[in-house]
Amino acid sequence: MIGIGIEQYGDEQQLKTVVVPTEQLGPEDLLISIKASGVNPVDWKIREGHLKKDFPYQLPLILGWDAAGKVLAVGSKVQEFKAGDDVFFRPEMEKQGTYADEIVVPANLVAPMPHGLTHVEAASLPLVGLTVFQALVEAGNVQPGDNVLILAGSGGIGSIAIQMAKACGAYVATTTSSKNSEFVSDLGADEVLAYDLGSMNTATEFDFMLDTLGGSSYGDALKFMKKNATVATLISGRDVIRPDYIDALEKELQLTVKFVFTRPDGKNMNHIRELVEVQKIKPVITEVFPLTVDGVREAHRLSQTGRTRGKIVLSNTN
Ligand SMILES: NC(=O)c1ccc[n+]([C@@H]2O[C@H](COP(=O)([O-])OP(=O)(O)OC[C@H]3O[C@@H](n4cnc5c(N)ncnc54)[C@H](OP(=O)(O)O)[C@@H]3O)[C@@H](O)[C@H]2O)c1
Repeated sequence: MIGIGIEQYGDEQQLKTVVVPTEQLGPEDLLISIKASGVNPVDWKIREGHLKKDFPYQLPLILGWDAAGKVLAVGSKVQEFKAGDDVFFRPEMEKQGTYADEIVVPANLVAPMPHGLTHVEAASLPLVGLTVFQALVEAGNVQPGDNVLILAGSGGIGSIAIQMAKACGAYVATTTSSKNSEFVSDLGADEVLAYDLGSMNTATEFDFMLDTLGGSSYGDALKFMKKNATVATLISGRDVIRPDYIDALEKELQLTVKFVFTRPDGKNMNHIRELVEVQKIKPVITEVFPLTVDGVREAHRLSQTGRTRGKIVLSNTN
């Protein structure tokens, strides 16, 4: 594999061209030519070394775990795919990533690309789609008529979460800054809580919250939850400081709080494909950069601002 990654942890200047052996194709694997790779905050968090304990990588490491591409070869036991198929997937995070020319991935983590999407559009979906599916459907069991609160509806996760919650039949409110109010309404949000217009308020009480922010943003939103409601949080202790009062508030409201960390899963990828094909979910892309060292540096700088709308994608034009 030739890709963009790191030989040591650090800032974006550490990003360089990395060459590592492509894994051998096993009987249940696919060899995929990568056409586009999604960029997620976890990529630069790993680059900076924040996830060293969870993922004790051997460097050099190609970054990125979110992609779309074309199948080049299939393992001897694979029946669902053939060379030439367009696919999208989130590979195993313990291994080399997708800012690369090619990758070997177990076929059961992969799904056919949704009809009508480009590789760039499809590459924006796997990681956020899986996370949102696993948070809303698996952890939250969101049902028609539920009141759902999504923190940061304009981000990569939030922009898909609004659409998926609407597809579940929920009433959806989301937090964002006022400059993004129209953007999240256009994605389907029924109610917008702008955090930069004084203290947020709503008459709605929520059955489920997707927490993408943690810290005081999460703490402030807890007062809107019903008793016995469910929270799926994507934020761990390494991401943000958790104010002391949160434990007591969660207990008082008798909330069920579940931490979700994205699991690669081909079946879930097929659910996402179906939701796209029936036009319940559309990709939301803010910026496309070339899959080059400079392109990845730009993409990481933009992601690290914490202000992006929707997703950043790297396009491999080679
Ligand atoms: N556990 C997991 O498996 C998992 C999976 C994916 C992501 N994550 C984590 O989830 C977090 C969100 O990911 P992401 O991809 O959505 O990030 P992102 O795309 O970088 O989020 C950026 C968005 O957040 C909004 N935002 C920032 N501060 C806000 C606030 N106080 N209130 C409301 N909105 C705010 C910004 O809107 P404004 O400009 O309007 O503020 C911007 O649109 C990251 O920490 C990521 O690492 C975890």
